Amino acid sequence: MKPINVGLLGIGTVGGGTWTVLTRNQEEITRRAGRPIHIVKVADRDLELAKKLTAGQVAVTDDAFSVVSDPDIDIVVELIGGTTIAKDLVLLAISHGKHVVTANKALLAVHGNEIFAAAQKQGVMVAFEAAVAGGIPIIKAVREGLAANRIEWIAGIINGTTNFILTEMREKGLDFDVALKDAQRLGYAESDPTFDVEGIDAAHKLMILAAIGFGIPMQFDKAYTEGITQLTGDDIRYAEQLGYRVKLLGITKRTDAGIELRVHPTLIPEKRLIANVNGAMNAVLVKGDAVGPTLYYGKGAGAEPTASSVVADLVDVTRMCTADPHQRVPHLAFQPDKLSDLPISPMDEVRTAYYLRLRAKDQPGVLADITRILGDLNISIDAFLQKEPAEGEQEVDIIMLTHITVEKYINQAIIEIELLPTISGKVTRIRLEELNS
Ligand code: HSE
Repeated sequence: MKPINVGLLGIGTVGGGTWTVLTRNQEEITRRAGRPIHIVKVADRDLELAKKLTAGQVAVTDDAFSVVSDPDIDIVVELIGGTTIAKDLVLLAISHGKHVVTANKALLAVHGNEIFAAAQKQGVMVAFEAAVAGGIPIIKAVREGLAANRIEWIAGIINGTTNFILTEMREKGLDFDVALKDAQRLGYAESDPTFDVEGIDAAHKLMILAAIGFGIPMQFDKAYTEGITQLTGDDIRYAEQLGYRVKLLGITKRTDAGIELRVHPTLIPEKRLIANVNGAMNAVLVKGDAVGPTLYYGKGAGAEPTASSVVADLVDVTRMCTADPHQRVPHLAFQPDKLSDLPISPMDEVRTAYYLRLRAKDQPGVLADITRILGDLNISIDAFLQKEPAEGEQEVDIIMLTHITVEKYINQAIIEIELLPTISGKVTRIRLEELNS
């Protein structure tokens, strides 16, 4: 059968991996797809690199726009990243009637509604398995494998860089800054690590998961995003003493009030499998009403793991491109005219449990004041830990876990506790999720 022709935009880490995997597994992939999938043109700013990697086997250009408008190309693979040029290229490819495969989570989380609407209009596919959790086929699992279910919540470790840093902090007793430097030295973190450590990358991926889990449009601006830069080694140690691990979780949950959409450091009971996902690995826990909790684990980044998802999308698109557009799996899992207008809950209304750490004078009445503030706000304490003052110190660390309450009550409690004359500095607050079914 006639091969399907692919134009590859970007032959860096993931693009290079895609080239390698497609070349190495060509025969097996053809047997799966029903026809050969050939990369016929590669665009990259670094022409020399592109020529070296492709060894003269295909056309190479530094003009990506010439690829998306090439009439011989059936599928454009966008691995450039960012939300500017990548957006123009993807929209242009769609307008030329080409299917698109992309690993670009930022592009989809921010401009997904426009891109999917354009694709719908043109009857082309936009596939994005590689955009969330790298090599883990989580999009396929949620969109198709769990299609019988009403998804209740999704909670994931969907950023490997921060998981690596948190693992280093726990295992080696390091503080954030030192662990970040290690991650940079080992190539896990970028020299500007903002997107990863501030939780933005995880929030992009979470927005995509929420869209396919609940059938809602993209609305990235409503995601609550808090990174790991304020976490201390002390908090990780205290959490451990109480039986918890701290992970940067992306959590999206269906509640009576709407959809929660939040990324923040989270205490998880250490007995949960997901609490034991260490290093740069990713894992996503999905709770469906019929299936119960299901857990997906694997590499969330890297050349070949991410290429695994890109190539799987190429196979999928190849198989589907002869099917009637109306019979294809919808981009966002639900039929485009059946998306839900469920509101995203404001963070103030989110219900969860909390870890609080405060520094207090070691004198009578301090605890009474704190428990009165919490009691007045109907916040119930679940566990409590007070350390002896260090030699020569007058202040102690007090750590409390609360039962589930509403975020606005904890915010109020923190304001009142910080005003007590016996408390010094800020109260540290980390959210806590039991993640039981
Ligand atoms: N920077 C991401 C991570 C990988 O650390 O998981 C690409 O999304």
